[in-house]
Amino acid sequence: MLEIDDLGKSYGGTPVFSRVSLRLQAGEFVALLGESGVGKSTLLNAIAGLDTVDTGRVKIDGAEVTRLDERQRALLRREKLGFVFQAFHVLPHLNVQDNVALPLLLLGRPDPARVRAVLAAVGLEDLGQRLPAQLSGGQLQRVAIARALVHKPRLILADEPTGNLDPRTADKVMDALAAEVRREGAACLLVTHSAAAAARADRVLRLLPQGLAWPDAPATAALDAGAARPTAPATAPSGRAAASSAPPPA
Ligand SMILES: Nc1ncnc2c1ncn2[C@@H]1O[C@H](COP(=O)(O)OP(=O)(O)OP(=O)(O)O)[C@@H](O)[C@H]1O
Ligand SMILES: [Mg+2]
Repeated sequence: MLEIDDLGKSYGGTPVFSRVSLRLQAGEFVALLGESGVGKSTLLNAIAGLDTVDTGRVKIDGAEVTRLDERQRALLRREKLGFVFQAFHVLPHLNVQDNVALPLLLLGRPDPARVRAVLAAVGLEDLGQRLPAQLSGGQLQRVAIARALVHKPRLILADEPTGNLDPRTADKVMDALAAEVRREGAACLLVTHSAAAAARADRVLRLLPQGLAWPDAPATAALDAGAARPTAPATAPSGRAAASSAPPPA
């Protein structure tokens, strides 16, 4: 579903990350940890084709994002990707319900029942008519999550989606996210600082300046499910890029 090979990015000559390689299977839930400023959000943006990279390539469901033009990338995102941004990015002039319905409208597949279902899944069933300015930070975050899930994307990229939530609500939202991943067979890459959220993942990775390290010690209990999977691991702790089994680009 997601193939990343030797991805590297720098800002004005200062490297952010390098040698990031990763495979995510359909239905796989991977948590990404890392210190503030290490480049987690930059990496998600690069995967989504919202930001450029210096080296490497990204493939989503067989399409090489790093080779598509801007229009093709936008279409790919619309169809296959659910992105929960760290800064939400909800549209201020649309109410909650219309914000969540937007991905379906853009795909020409309006589905009010589905919109109601995802709003209920994140506990916002009564707030559909509110404008974003009338919501709390945690409620806004849940709008962003519902919007990322509504069109049943193949790949979900979520940037600290429970960062503003109390533990109980965070748990409920993680339930909804995990259920969606399992039910729809989506792949999910979740950036989080929460041990509770990471504990639900099949695999836990840590972003370091020299690449991805795994397994991550504090959440080894969560590694059992992922350990048996025949996926190529992320870049080894030594920084050596994982072997690529992907075919050459068409
Ligand atoms: N447009 C930019 N120009 C220059 N440097 C940038 C730019 N955007 C981000 N950076 C730098 O790149 C690094 C990675 O930023 P990023 O937002 O990806 O970190 P992060 O791991 O998501 O951190 P956090 O956990 O705080 O969200 C940071 O040091 C940041 O200051
Ligand atoms: Mg970030």
